Amino acid sequence: MPGLHIGAARARADISDTALRHRDPQENAPVQTLPPPLDRLRLPAIVAPKFLTSTPDLVVAACRSGLLGAFPALNHRTSDGFEAWLTEIQTYLADSPDAAPYAVYLIVPKTNPRLAADFDIVVRHKVPVVITGFGASPEVVEAVQSYGGIVFHDVATRGHAEKVARSGVDGLIALGAGAGGHMGHLSPYAAVAEIRKVYDGLLILAGAMSTGADIVAARAMGADMACMGTRFIATSETEVSQAQKDIMVAVGASDVVVTPNLTGGQATFLRPSLRAAGVDPDAIPPVGGPDATLESRASRDIWWAGQGVGAIGDVPNMAQLCDRLVGEYREAVRRIAIDPVAADGAVMTRRSGSG
Ligand SMILES: Cc1cc2nc3c(=O)[nH]c(=O)nc-3n(C[C@H](O)[C@H](O)[C@H](O)COP(=O)(O)O)c2cc1C
Repeated sequence: MPGLHIGAARARADISDTALRHRDPQENAPVQTLPPPLDRLRLPAIVAPKFLTSTPDLVVAACRSGLLGAFPALNHRTSDGFEAWLTEIQTYLADSPDAAPYAVYLIVPKTNPRLAADFDIVVRHKVPVVITGFGASPEVVEAVQSYGGIVFHDVATRGHAEKVARSGVDGLIALGAGAGGHMGHLSPYAAVAEIRKVYDGLLILAGAMSTGADIVAARAMGADMACMGTRFIATSETEVSQAQKDIMVAVGASDVVVTPNLTGGQATFLRPSLRAAGVDPDAIPPVGGPDATLESRASRDIWWAGQGVGAIGDVPNMAQLCDRLVGEYREAVRRIAIDPVAADGAVMTRRSGSG
């Protein structure tokens, strides 16, 4: 499988050194390259870590297809089970030397009672990419970098990006509006532009992207990679019901409802699944209120998805979807390359000719 080579690989040290340097808009953007181990990716894309739906099968399928497959450590209910999943993933990927690297998502605040045990497992297994959320920790970053791994952290604003970059992370994941799960609030254009004013390290955009052209758009905007979650729920390897996959093909972006009432943070849910679970999508009661069964129904029967669901039209397998994303990516690049404005002087020539 061909790796992603867009020039000489930028070493991690360069990324850290430049992470907090303000970007001069007049300056040429650095050559967009991905550092090891991301240079093994076929596309600059992460199959996002998703509560419940990211399993070892999905991660292995993503990595074998050339995408960075990620899963939350907490998707297994015990630390021993999490370690068994890691061993399973490593065993399967050992048969595919060209496979892309995988990532584990860790909730870092000390309120996560499993943090110490799960992090010990991450370090012992030398997990190549660690995505952290809810608290950037220099200790975590140092420990992962000491065995050659890299760390990304979720951010939603410029201020947050500045703060997190100081922890020494190797990349930031900017959550834009429309993302599935706990979404961001800024338009992706606004988020990337303002984060790029203060951070010129590896930037990954997340939110409402479902096609290869979307990945090109993210890179054109100034991000280096895309992080896509919702699109990959509608794949044959994802262990959710056929009913959920069918709904994801049928609905549009306006069927995504945002509420803080089910998880405590603003999160995105599919309107038809709320109705089927007996919850009025326009008057969602808070978990912890009079409806004692709401919490268990919310995690089991109410489905998360971002606005990118509107672009989903089928349920392919991971390899088919990855091939399609590559095709769409190349087609989008070709389309942009022949845009008249892209050709030097073309617009001026046309104007002077018409006068
Ligand atoms: C079903 C679902 C579950 C998710 N669970 C998590 C999670 O446990 N932790 C997390 O950081 N992000 C979670 N996310 C967010 C994703 O990691 C990613 O940021 C998001 O899916 C990107 O936006 P998109 O879904 O529009 O592609 C979840 C997203 C979805 C759709």
